[in-house]
Amino acid sequence: MKSEKISKSAHRKDEHLALAKASYQANQANSFDDLRLTRPTLPETVVTPDSIRTTMFGHTLSAPFFINAITGGSNKGQEINAALARVAKKANIALALGSANIVAHEPATLKTFTIARAANPDGMLLINVNPGTPLATIKLLINELRPAALQIHVNAVQELIMPEGDRDFQWLNKMMQIRDAVDLPVIVKEVGFGFDVKSLRLLEQNGFNYVDVAGSGGTDFAWIENFRRPGRDMDYLEGIGIPTVEALLTARQTNLTYFASGGIRNPLDVLKSMVLGASAVGISNRFLQEYNQNGEAGLLKLVTNWQDQLAGLVALFGGNDLADLKKMQFDYRLR
Ligand code: FNR
Repeated sequence: MKSEKISKSAHRKDEHLALAKASYQANQANSFDDLRLTRPTLPETVVTPDSIRTTMFGHTLSAPFFINAITGGSNKGQEINAALARVAKKANIALALGSANIVAHEPATLKTFTIARAANPDGMLLINVNPGTPLATIKLLINELRPAALQIHVNAVQELIMPEGDRDFQWLNKMMQIRDAVDLPVIVKEVGFGFDVKSLRLLEQNGFNYVDVAGSGGTDFAWIENFRRPGRDMDYLEGIGIPTVEALLTARQTNLTYFASGGIRNPLDVLKSMVLGASAVGISNRFLQEYNQNGEAGLLKLVTNWQDQLAGLVALFGGNDLADLKKMQFDYRLR
């Protein structure tokens, strides 16, 4: 059998896909379990899909949750991006592609990302890079993909565990240069370790407007990278992240516009995130594993079920629209 030559970066991305599957635990307990919403016994509302309609960066979407950054750069990544884009189109939700930094040193991988634009010509796409991605690459990606926004991922824990990872975590100036050079909203995004108040304030003071808190409680890249690491001797960093609910409560104290992600398991977690003030909610591994198990049709069914159920929950908790969620009462027990 002819074996295809695959670069180190593409191989790493395929390993992430495989290990995300190995590490996935359906309905894993997390910080959302400790957040209780007060439900009115007499909601005086009606269930309607209109209640969850939203606009994001100029796009009208059927739901405030989106498929968050997963992959690209390999053949498998290309197949997944095409399928995710078709699902996003049919369900009218946004899709964030995985990091496209690989395009800077392997230009042929561009097609593993542009396939998503071809599959959904008018849909809302976000692209994802790291603070060191060259500006020329970012501009090429913007021209080819016409994204609504740019995610820059910050992932110090992951980099430290990777033997080949970045050892220079001075990212703020690099991100400011990117932000000032592009004509798009820039979202600074973690990858499952959350944000602390000091870092959020630093972003705010330096003119950033958007963050994706990407807290812990779902995919744990400390586990994934430790598994890939020779000797597997940094397992003590597993679980080091700031839980998503705590990161959201912290973001509430700032003037940033924030997205929720990290360990979103079901429509109730989406609702709770919105109650905590998130403007939209990203899901990665739950959707990836549905695609792995039940294919594109299975994922589309899950997404449309979530839309129906979220509309039900908005009414159940006494809301007529997403704005009403911000007024709901909640109670959080610190563990
Ligand atoms: C990711 N994630 C991610 N994030 C990012 O900013 N750029 C990336 O390229 C990737 N790649 C990636 C691959 C795979 C296989 C997974 C599962 C995840 C992180 C992702 O966007 C998200 O922040 C975390 O996974 C936490 O969310 P979930 O998975 O708990 O919903």
